[in-house]
Amino acid sequence: MDMPSAEQAIKSNRHAWDESARLHKDTATWKATLAAVARADFSCLDPTITQLLQEVGVVGKDVVQLCCNNGRECLSLFGLGARSVVGVDQSREFLQQARELADVSPHCPQFIESDIHHLPEALMGQFDVALVTIGVLGWMPDVALFMRHAASVLKPGGVLVMYETHPFLEVFDPAAVNPMLPASSYFQRDPFVLQESIVYEGRDVLDGPTSYWFVHTLGSVVSGAIAAQLQIGHLQEYPHSNREELYDQYENQRAQLPLCFTLTATRRSA
Ligand SMILES: C[S@@+](CC[C@H](N)C(=O)[O-])C[C@H]1O[C@@H](n2cnc3c(N)ncnc32)[C@H](O)[C@@H]1O
Repeated sequence: MDMPSAEQAIKSNRHAWDESARLHKDTATWKATLAAVARADFSCLDPTITQLLQEVGVVGKDVVQLCCNNGRECLSLFGLGARSVVGVDQSREFLQQARELADVSPHCPQFIESDIHHLPEALMGQFDVALVTIGVLGWMPDVALFMRHAASVLKPGGVLVMYETHPFLEVFDPAAVNPMLPASSYFQRDPFVLQESIVYEGRDVLDGPTSYWFVHTLGSVVSGAIAAQLQIGHLQEYPHSNREELYDQYENQRAQLPLCFTLTATRRSA
């Protein structure tokens, strides 16, 4: 099978996310979120990332979330004391939902439609904290390039805070007859070609537009950050799952796999 160029993959992924927005709006989670964001202290952030953000410190800070999806995590950052929050995503349809949530919320985030690889000049060097959470790196063809763009929006001394799924999980197929058997290489360079709708809830697979999911080893994530002049201050792996419920089966094993990780990295002064 011919693999797409990076630009083609990014374009296909944008289309796939736009298409999936409708499905996410049909869920009970959407209705519950719409009601919950009316509270000033709303948060959908789990204890792991909440604690890390508190340690890094977001009170009074200017924060950007890269690949913010429907903006619910942007709104949660105000509950942690952020002074301003900007969410960036390339999916127009999800940003539409983000604005719907913001209309109900007492907070005023700004949402910007942009591919991470073509960020507006106005964002450069503007933020104390850049947040990247769960399910972002896999859509990026080149993790080192992604790190350069993430670093570019930070002020000198600003911190990238990442809470991601663990790349080692990509070796397994959670829907396989034996989901514990390694099914693909940790070092695979070609992306997984997905032809299903992107949904977080339920186990049903629906046909959908083609999208491309890339595996980036933990080493390449760390090396990408270092090459982007980011100084790593923290890297921790965890045995809990922070992704779709299909992956819950990998928790609480005697021979436990790493299921997610957090990383912080500070932009060096010029
Ligand atoms: C799994 S979602 C992130 C969800 C987020 N952690 C949350 O819980 O709300 C990944 C997001 O990345 C966005 N995305 C993927 N590739 C992108 C790119 N090149 N530029 C900007 N956004 C991108 C998608 O549109 C999608 O909204």
